[in-house]
Amino acid sequence: MFNCSSCGYQSIKWLGKCPLCDGWETFVEQSNSGVITARPKASVKQLKDIDKAHSKRITVGIDEFDRILGGGLVEGEVILLGGEPGIGKSTLLLEVGSMLCAKGKTLYVSAEESPQQIALRASRLKNSSDSLHLLGEDDLTEVLKAIQEHEFKFIIIDSIQVVRHPSCDGPKGSVSQIRGCADYLTQIAKATGIIVFIVGHVTKEGALAGPKLLEHLVDCVLYFEGENICGYRILRASKNRFGPTGDIAVFEMTSVGLKEVKKINDIFLPHKGQLFPGSTVACVMQGMRPVPIELQSLVTRGTFGMVRRRSLGYDYNRLLLLTAIIEKRLKVALSSEDVFLNVAGGIKIDDPAADFAAAVAIVSSYKEENVPQGSLFLGEVGLSGELRRVSHINLRISSAARANFSDFYIPESNISEVQKGSNLSVKGFRSMKEAMETLFP
Ligand code: TYD
Ligand code: MG
Repeated sequence: MFNCSSCGYQSIKWLGKCPLCDGWETFVEQSNSGVITARPKASVKQLKDIDKAHSKRITVGIDEFDRILGGGLVEGEVILLGGEPGIGKSTLLLEVGSMLCAKGKTLYVSAEESPQQIALRASRLKNSSDSLHLLGEDDLTEVLKAIQEHEFKFIIIDSIQVVRHPSCDGPKGSVSQIRGCADYLTQIAKATGIIVFIVGHVTKEGALAGPKLLEHLVDCVLYFEGENICGYRILRASKNRFGPTGDIAVFEMTSVGLKEVKKINDIFLPHKGQLFPGSTVACVMQGMRPVPIELQSLVTRGTFGMVRRRSLGYDYNRLLLLTAIIEKRLKVALSSEDVFLNVAGGIKIDDPAADFAAAVAIVSSYKEENVPQGSLFLGEVGLSGELRRVSHINLRISSAARANFSDFYIPESNISEVQKGSNLSVKGFRSMKEAMETLFP
């Protein structure tokens, strides 16, 4: 088998030019030498005979981090932490590593920074431990040796893009090195019960030769995201074999490291319902957690016939779709207007239930009119301007009610599911047109 060392394309014969990435002379024969065979031989067992004692949770001690993991770490677990450079992955894992020192010997392998740099950083952090072991090495064989020698319980590899193993082909950061090294680490974890954290950089354009390659190999994939300008960082589990996915935890980057933010409403509802024209609130699901979030829109006259559409935290193509629907179905002339849409708190949302709130925000800004105090909008918007049913309606409503929202605008098709009672006002609408006539008579 031959592998392209830059994109990972596989072929049974050697090729001069890669058909996928157009690279020349990138094909190298895949070698299997040096693969660890420490994994015990598997045998067929019944579910009831399998020892589940080892799946006891080891808590890190950072509550929000433990919650995202699904209650703590599991023996032999491999966790991938992805995120853009500079977002705070090293800082987070340095804190996690320091906390874990109380639970077992912990090794922080940094191939990016020298141990001196890490020590300097650790001295700034509130959570840091002098018993954390550091290793500045990019050769995985040396790391494996150190693991055997010192019997570490927790290993942090920062980052997978800069380590290499001599038995894998290609330069550091190439597909074969990333895959090969991650494979070694996972096998060690499964064979010995060591818990491994792997850092993977993601580029702005998407994941190139990085975390996406490894998602199937590891047990848990965490993404650390946020706008660099605001100090908030959002940790999200996108895959978790031992816990829920989609849920989020919020951290604040401070001068003494990351601080957990437990009252997330303060971040996602900066105006606490005291709205201005162009601002509305939706309640989006992050995993099984409903989070009320403010959306802000600004619609202004475009200059020289060049109109702009920009979104921050909201899918750009959905924004284009929404403006087209508003224009056609609501007869709001947006074709000569700039439209900006921003999600508060630097979070990225992909729940279609926020469509309705986004559309109302745009219209509200266009008309320079506020939406009613305490109102919240839920619904997916279809191409004909219809409001489609959303999931978990009661969960969303009750969560928003706790944040003092009392006036709900939801799709008609959801009305029958809504639990009656309390002093909430819940109105159902079949289409955006119907809703806008009520909102902006
Ligand atoms: P870092 O963990 O190095 O990011 P990554 O490993 O994802 O590339 O985080 C770097 C940023 O965090 C850097 O711009 C400085 C900032 N920072 C703080 O604001 N406070 C701190 O206590 C620390 C350690 C870093
Ligand atoms: Mg780093």
